[in-house]
Amino acid sequence: MLEAMDPRPVGMFDSGVGGLSVFREFRRLAPRERTVYFADTAYFPYGPRDPGEVRKRAFAIAHRLVEADAKLIVVACNTASAAAVADLRQLFDLPFVGMVPAVKPATRASRSGRVAILATPGTFDGDLYASVVDEFGTGAAIDRVVGHDLAELVERGEVATPAARKAVRAALARPVANGADIVVLGCTHYEFLAPAITAEFPGVSVLGTGEPVARRARDLLQELDLEAPPDAEGALDLIVSGNREAFLEALPRLGFAPREQEAEAQS
Ligand code: DGL
Repeated sequence: MLEAMDPRPVGMFDSGVGGLSVFREFRRLAPRERTVYFADTAYFPYGPRDPGEVRKRAFAIAHRLVEADAKLIVVACNTASAAAVADLRQLFDLPFVGMVPAVKPATRASRSGRVAILATPGTFDGDLYASVVDEFGTGAAIDRVVGHDLAELVERGEVATPAARKAVRAALARPVANGADIVVLGCTHYEFLAPAITAEFPGVSVLGTGEPVARRARDLLQELDLEAPPDAEGALDLIVSGNREAFLEALPRLGFAPREQEAEAQS
Protein backbone atom coordinates (compact mmCIF):
# COMPACT_ATOMS: atom_id res chain seq x y z
CA MET A 1 0.00 0.00 0.00
CA LEU A 2 1.23 3.48 -0.82
CA GLU A 3 1.78 5.50 2.38
CA ALA A 4 0.53 9.06 2.14
CA MET A 5 2.90 11.49 3.82
CA ASP A 6 2.35 15.04 4.84
CA PRO A 7 4.74 16.38 7.47
CA ARG A 8 2.89 19.70 7.87
CA PRO A 9 1.26 20.39 11.25
CA VAL A 10 -2.39 20.40 12.22
CA GLY A 11 -3.63 23.80 13.44
CA MET A 12 -5.90 24.06 16.47
CA PHE A 13 -7.28 27.05 18.35
CA ASP A 14 -9.40 28.22 21.25
CA SER A 15 -9.67 31.29 23.46
CA GLY A 16 -7.30 29.60 25.94
CA VAL A 17 -6.62 26.21 27.49
CA GLY A 18 -10.02 24.69 26.64
CA GLY A 19 -9.09 23.31 23.24
CA LEU A 20 -6.30 21.31 24.85
CA SER A 21 -9.08 18.90 25.88
CA VAL A 22 -9.45 18.20 22.14
CA PHE A 23 -5.69 18.14 21.68
CA ARG A 24 -5.14 15.49 24.39
CA GLU A 25 -7.57 13.16 22.57
CA PHE A 26 -6.06 13.98 19.20
CA ARG A 27 -2.55 13.22 20.47
CA ARG A 28 -3.77 9.83 21.70
CA LEU A 29 -5.46 9.01 18.38
CA ALA A 30 -2.81 10.44 16.05
CA PRO A 31 0.47 10.40 18.02
CA ARG A 32 2.65 11.10 14.98
CA GLU A 33 1.01 14.43 14.14
CA ARG A 34 2.53 17.77 15.05
CA THR A 35 0.01 20.31 16.33
CA VAL A 36 0.35 24.09 16.34
CA TYR A 37 -2.06 25.26 19.04
CA PHE A 38 -3.11 28.91 19.14
CA ALA A 39 -4.40 30.05 22.55
CA ASP A 40 -6.08 33.42 22.09
CA THR A 41 -5.77 34.39 25.73
CA ALA A 42 -5.54 38.11 24.92
CA TYR A 43 -9.22 37.87 23.94
CA PHE A 44 -10.35 35.34 26.55
CA PRO A 45 -13.23 34.74 27.20
CA TYR A 46 -14.98 34.41 23.85
CA GLY A 47 -18.29 33.31 25.38
CA PRO A 48 -19.83 36.71 26.16
CA ARG A 49 -18.33 38.50 23.12
CA ASP A 50 -20.21 39.68 20.07
CA PRO A 51 -20.11 36.93 17.37
CA GLY A 52 -18.65 39.44 14.86
CA GLU A 53 -15.68 40.01 17.13
CA VAL A 54 -15.12 36.27 17.66
CA ARG A 55 -15.35 35.79 13.88
CA LYS A 56 -12.63 38.42 13.33
CA ARG A 57 -10.37 36.64 15.81
CA ALA A 58 -11.05 33.30 14.12
CA PHE A 59 -10.06 34.74 10.71
CA ALA A 60 -6.86 36.29 12.11
CA ILE A 61 -5.90 33.04 13.86
CA ALA A 62 -6.65 30.94 10.78
CA HIS A 63 -4.33 33.23 8.78
CA ARG A 64 -1.62 32.75 11.40
CA LEU A 65 -2.06 28.96 11.32
CA VAL A 66 -1.95 28.93 7.52
CA GLU A 67 1.33 30.88 7.77
CA ALA A 68 2.53 28.12 10.09
CA ASP A 69 1.75 25.74 7.19
CA ALA A 70 -1.29 24.02 8.76
CA LYS A 71 -2.76 21.23 6.63
CA LEU A 72 -6.07 21.14 8.53
CA ILE A 73 -7.52 23.35 11.27
CA VAL A 74 -9.54 22.18 14.27
CA VAL A 75 -11.71 24.93 15.73
CA ALA A 76 -11.39 23.52 19.26
CA CYS A 77 -13.96 25.91 20.67
CA ASN A 78 -17.75 25.73 20.51
CA THR A 79 -18.15 29.50 20.66
CA ALA A 80 -15.76 30.13 17.75
CA SER A 81 -17.33 27.28 15.77
CA ALA A 82 -20.74 28.89 16.25
CA ALA A 83 -19.47 32.30 15.15
CA ALA A 84 -17.12 31.38 12.33
CA VAL A 85 -16.70 27.82 11.09
CA ALA A 86 -19.06 28.19 8.10
CA ASP A 87 -17.29 31.38 6.95
CA LEU A 88 -13.83 29.91 7.55
CA ARG A 89 -14.70 27.04 5.21
CA GLN A 90 -15.76 29.55 2.54
CA LEU A 91 -12.71 31.73 2.88
CA PHE A 92 -9.83 29.32 3.32
CA ASP A 93 -8.70 26.57 1.05
CA LEU A 94 -8.07 23.88 3.66
CA PRO A 95 -10.28 21.55 5.70
CA PHE A 96 -11.78 22.71 9.02
CA VAL A 97 -13.20 20.58 11.81
CA GLY A 98 -15.62 22.47 14.04
CA MET A 99 -17.67 21.50 17.06
CA VAL A 100 -21.17 21.73 18.46
CA PRO A 101 -22.61 20.41 21.78
CA ALA A 102 -23.45 16.69 21.74
CA VAL A 103 -27.24 17.16 21.59
CA LYS A 104 -27.92 14.08 19.49
CA PRO A 105 -26.18 11.42 21.64
CA ALA A 106 -27.48 13.08 24.81
CA THR A 107 -31.15 13.11 23.86
CA ARG A 108 -30.86 9.50 22.67
CA ALA A 109 -29.12 8.27 25.82
CA SER A 110 -31.26 10.06 28.40
CA ARG A 111 -33.48 7.74 30.39
CA SER A 112 -35.21 10.52 32.28
CA GLY A 113 -36.02 12.45 29.09
CA ARG A 114 -34.23 15.51 30.41
CA VAL A 115 -30.71 16.72 29.59
CA ALA A 116 -28.71 19.76 30.68
CA ILE A 117 -26.48 21.51 28.18
CA LEU A 118 -23.72 23.61 29.67
CA ALA A 119 -22.31 26.17 27.22
CA THR A 120 -21.44 29.82 26.66
CA PRO A 121 -23.97 32.49 25.54
CA GLY A 122 -22.19 32.65 22.16
CA THR A 123 -22.75 28.94 21.55
CA PHE A 124 -26.43 29.03 22.57
CA ASP A 125 -27.11 32.06 20.38
CA GLY A 126 -25.50 30.62 17.24
CA ASP A 127 -27.28 29.05 14.25
CA LEU A 128 -25.20 25.89 14.59
CA TYR A 129 -26.68 25.06 18.00
CA ALA A 130 -30.20 25.97 16.81
CA SER A 131 -29.91 23.69 13.80
CA VAL A 132 -28.65 20.75 15.87
CA VAL A 133 -31.49 21.19 18.38
CA ASP A 134 -34.02 21.42 15.50
CA GLU A 135 -32.72 18.24 13.96
CA PHE A 136 -31.84 16.11 16.97
CA GLY A 137 -33.31 17.79 20.03
CA THR A 138 -36.61 15.99 20.01
CA GLY A 139 -37.27 13.19 22.45
CA ALA A 140 -35.88 14.92 25.52
CA ALA A 141 -36.37 18.25 27.27
CA ILE A 142 -33.27 20.42 27.14
CA ASP A 143 -32.17 22.70 29.94
CA ARG A 144 -29.81 25.39 28.67
CA VAL A 145 -27.29 26.28 31.36
CA VAL A 146 -24.89 29.18 30.83
CA GLY A 147 -21.65 28.39 32.63
CA HIS A 148 -20.89 31.64 34.43
CA ASP A 149 -17.22 31.88 35.46
CA LEU A 150 -16.54 28.19 34.75
CA ALA A 151 -14.22 28.84 31.81
CA GLU A 152 -12.35 31.40 33.94
CA LEU A 153 -11.70 28.79 36.64
CA VAL A 154 -10.41 26.30 34.08
CA GLU A 155 -8.24 28.95 32.44
CA ARG A 156 -6.45 29.35 35.77
CA GLY A 157 -6.08 25.59 36.05
CA GLU A 158 -8.53 25.45 38.96
CA VAL A 159 -10.30 22.21 38.16
CA ALA A 160 -9.68 20.12 41.26
CA THR A 161 -10.35 22.79 43.88
CA PRO A 162 -13.22 23.46 46.29
CA ALA A 163 -14.00 26.54 44.15
CA ALA A 164 -14.46 24.33 41.08
CA ARG A 165 -16.76 21.95 42.99
CA LYS A 166 -18.78 24.89 44.27
CA ALA A 167 -19.09 26.42 40.80
CA VAL A 168 -20.31 23.23 39.13
CA ARG A 169 -22.73 22.67 42.01
CA ALA A 170 -24.13 26.17 41.55
CA ALA A 171 -24.49 25.72 37.79
CA LEU A 172 -26.03 22.25 37.76
CA ALA A 173 -27.97 21.78 41.02
CA ARG A 174 -31.24 23.06 39.53
CA PRO A 175 -31.27 21.07 36.27
CA VAL A 176 -30.17 17.89 38.07
CA ALA A 177 -32.88 18.40 40.73
CA ASN A 178 -35.34 18.80 37.83
CA GLY A 179 -34.40 15.34 36.57
CA ALA A 180 -31.56 15.81 34.07
CA ASP A 181 -29.57 12.57 33.94
CA ILE A 182 -27.08 13.75 31.29
CA VAL A 183 -24.89 16.84 31.32
CA VAL A 184 -23.51 17.88 27.94
CA LEU A 185 -20.26 19.83 28.00
CA GLY A 186 -20.80 22.45 25.30
CA CYS A 187 -17.53 24.28 25.86
CA THR A 188 -14.07 22.79 25.54
CA HIS A 189 -12.97 24.37 28.81
CA TYR A 190 -15.68 22.46 30.68
CA GLU A 191 -14.22 19.09 29.66
CA PHE A 192 -11.61 19.64 32.37
CA LEU A 193 -14.42 19.95 34.92
CA ALA A 194 -15.88 16.52 34.12
CA PRO A 195 -14.30 14.88 37.22
CA ALA A 196 -15.68 17.67 39.45
CA ILE A 197 -19.15 17.26 37.93
CA THR A 198 -19.10 13.48 38.38
CA ALA A 199 -17.91 13.85 41.98
CA GLU A 200 -20.64 16.37 42.72
CA PHE A 201 -23.44 14.55 40.86
CA PRO A 202 -22.57 10.83 40.81
CA GLY A 203 -25.90 9.90 39.21
CA VAL A 204 -25.47 11.90 36.01
CA SER A 205 -23.54 10.99 32.89
CA VAL A 206 -21.23 13.61 31.44
CA LEU A 207 -20.96 13.87 27.67
CA GLY A 208 -18.19 15.83 26.01
CA THR A 209 -17.13 16.34 22.42
CA GLY A 210 -13.34 16.25 22.69
CA GLU A 211 -12.98 12.63 21.64
CA PRO A 212 -15.40 12.64 18.67
CA VAL A 213 -13.94 15.89 17.33
CA ALA A 214 -10.40 14.53 17.61
CA ARG A 215 -11.52 11.34 15.86
CA ARG A 216 -13.13 13.36 13.07
CA ALA A 217 -9.84 15.24 12.56
CA ARG A 218 -7.85 11.98 12.50
CA ASP A 219 -10.31 10.39 10.04
CA LEU A 220 -10.27 13.43 7.77
CA LEU A 221 -6.46 13.36 7.63
CA GLN A 222 -6.70 9.73 6.55
CA GLU A 223 -9.43 10.35 3.97
CA LEU A 224 -7.56 13.28 2.42
CA ASP A 225 -4.16 11.57 2.44
CA LEU A 226 -2.77 14.16 4.80
CA GLU A 227 -1.37 11.91 7.52
CA ALA A 228 2.10 12.43 8.97
CA PRO A 229 4.91 10.19 7.70
CA PRO A 230 5.29 6.84 9.49
CA ASP A 231 8.52 7.87 11.19
CA ALA A 232 7.25 11.32 12.30
CA GLU A 233 7.32 12.24 15.97
CA GLY A 234 4.35 14.14 17.33
CA ALA A 235 4.85 17.51 18.97
CA LEU A 236 2.92 20.43 20.38
CA ASP A 237 3.91 23.98 19.42
CA LEU A 238 2.16 26.71 21.34
CA ILE A 239 1.30 30.23 20.24
CA VAL A 240 -0.19 32.36 23.03
CA SER A 241 -1.61 35.79 22.19
CA GLY A 242 -1.71 36.97 25.82
CA ASN A 243 0.33 36.12 28.92
CA ARG A 244 2.41 33.09 27.99
CA GLU A 245 3.70 32.48 31.52
CA ALA A 246 0.20 32.31 33.00
CA PHE A 247 -0.88 29.94 30.26
CA LEU A 248 2.05 27.60 30.83
CA GLU A 249 1.54 27.64 34.57
CA ALA A 250 -1.97 26.25 34.23
CA LEU A 251 -0.91 23.25 32.11
CA PRO A 252 0.33 20.85 34.82
CA ARG A 253 -2.87 21.47 36.79
CA LEU A 254 -4.83 20.33 33.73
CA GLY A 255 -2.91 17.07 33.51
CA PHE A 256 -0.29 18.09 30.97
CA ALA A 257 3.38 17.34 31.36
CA PRO A 258 5.60 20.02 32.88
CA ARG A 259 6.16 23.02 30.65
CA GLU A 260 9.67 22.07 29.52
CA GLN A 261 8.26 19.12 27.61
CA GLU A 262 5.08 20.72 26.35
CA ALA A 263 6.16 24.12 25.22
CA GLU A 264 8.94 23.40 22.81
CA ALA A 265 8.96 25.32 19.57
CA GLN A 266 7.73 28.85 19.38
CA SER A 267 6.26 31.31 16.97
N1 DGL B 1 -13.62 27.09 25.04
C1 DGL B 1 -14.66 27.93 24.53
C2 DGL B 1 -15.81 27.07 23.97
O1 DGL B 1 -15.64 25.89 23.68
C3 DGL B 1 -15.27 28.97 25.42
C4 DGL B 1 -14.48 29.63 26.46
C5 DGL B 1 -14.62 31.15 26.38
O2 DGL B 1 -15.67 31.68 26.77
O3 DGL B 1 -13.68 31.74 25.88
O4 DGL B 1 -16.88 27.56 23.79
